[in-house]
Amino acid sequence: MTDTEIKKGLAGVVVDYTAVSKVNPETNSLLYRGYPVQELAATQSFEAVAYLLWHGELPTDVQLAQLRATERQYRALSPDVRAVIDHVPLDAHPMDEVRTAVSLIGAKDLAGSGSVMDAGGTADENLARSIRLFAALPAIVAYGQRRRRGLEPVESRDDLDYAANFLWLTFGKEADEVVVDAFNRSMILYAEHSFNASTFTARVVTSTLSDLYSAVVAAIGALKGPLHGGANEAVLHIFDEIGTASNVVPWLDTALAEKRKIMGFGHRVYKRGDSRVPTMKAALDTLVEHYDRPEVAELYDTLESEFVSRKGIYPNLDYPSGPAYNLIGFDTLTFTPLFVAARVTGWTAHIMEQASANALIRPLSEYNGPDERHIDGYVPDEAVLAAAERAEEAAG
Ligand code: CMC
Repeated sequence: MTDTEIKKGLAGVVVDYTAVSKVNPETNSLLYRGYPVQELAATQSFEAVAYLLWHGELPTDVQLAQLRATERQYRALSPDVRAVIDHVPLDAHPMDEVRTAVSLIGAKDLAGSGSVMDAGGTADENLARSIRLFAALPAIVAYGQRRRRGLEPVESRDDLDYAANFLWLTFGKEADEVVVDAFNRSMILYAEHSFNASTFTARVVTSTLSDLYSAVVAAIGALKGPLHGGANEAVLHIFDEIGTASNVVPWLDTALAEKRKIMGFGHRVYKRGDSRVPTMKAALDTLVEHYDRPEVAELYDTLESEFVSRKGIYPNLDYPSGPAYNLIGFDTLTFTPLFVAARVTGWTAHIMEQASANALIRPLSEYNGPDERHIDGYVPDEAVLAAAERAEEAAG
């Protein structure tokens, strides 16, 4: 072993530049292309934020209308994507459905590209692919929830924008404006977060000159884990376990004694609170009022204040979004797929950025396995001996 400093989990390691977003834990701020995420959530549609992430500027009215028109073209769940989802066992995690569906969309789109080298795509091709996935994901996610409930899929509505259509596809009825607004905000807040694990995964895959779909499939795999995207789902499991606010203290005593991680709290970058939480908590509050479910807010507030006062660890975005999605009517298993539908915008913005100034991502490791050893009776042939001699000479 040498004295090389190992940065486990790449904690604190800056690996590249990005112009997509800036996370500043000191000022508790998150900027997408320079705009504070809170301002975007309060004033923009998710489509406009997707445009911003891809192009670097908010769209004009004409540009937004164009994006919305293209998005409508790619909304439909094609029969083969539906069929492939139907092959995923009903008791598999829906993230497996989403990952599989995206893989098929990619394979079909890239069919005929001929060589692996062609699949990397030009900037225009990658933008078109990004819009295609952005448009296709709501029907995939909604279909997953409906099929688990034994319901037939519903068709998209051309008169509805992205967020309203997503809710329509999932529930087969038009959502109230306050619900559409809260959902739209959540999608914006989840859209992008610099070099998190799934985005970094997408960039690693892109750096090999693989294609955008492969990078997104890999990112979906990374997002599935409970230390990352899977946490919003885990928050609801915790809420179900606790039941009511009056159970928080004994539940937390036991959980902490068992050294359990309390899902929805803590963050690798933010140590004094996640910049997205106040906006999502406000959206949750509007939903609590809309659905008249004050006990949800009571449980939320009690667990937060107890945990923060005992551990000094603050909630992350998954803490308010889990109960918000639950109130809207999404199944707990659908929460992480919703995160995919939002984050695909950030992933693809990063994929395009990586492709535009690429360097293969290939870090080093410090070996700590057994010392060199040999197979009994092995006799190296001439070529191997010659290569070993050359290597020794070169090393001096
Ligand atoms: N519950 C209990 N203890 C915690 C928690 C938590 N949620 N988070 C951190 N800690 C403790 C941890 O046990 C450790 O204590 P000790 O030093 O005594 O061993 C200390 O705080 C440092 O934790 P860590 O896990 O080494 O720190 P990290 O920077 O690697 O962790 C994290 C970041 C998000 C993995 C962690 O906070 C965690 O596991 N949180 C729960 C899962 C979660 O909510 N994930 C969503 C992350 S935000 C959404 C996203 O971007 O995907």
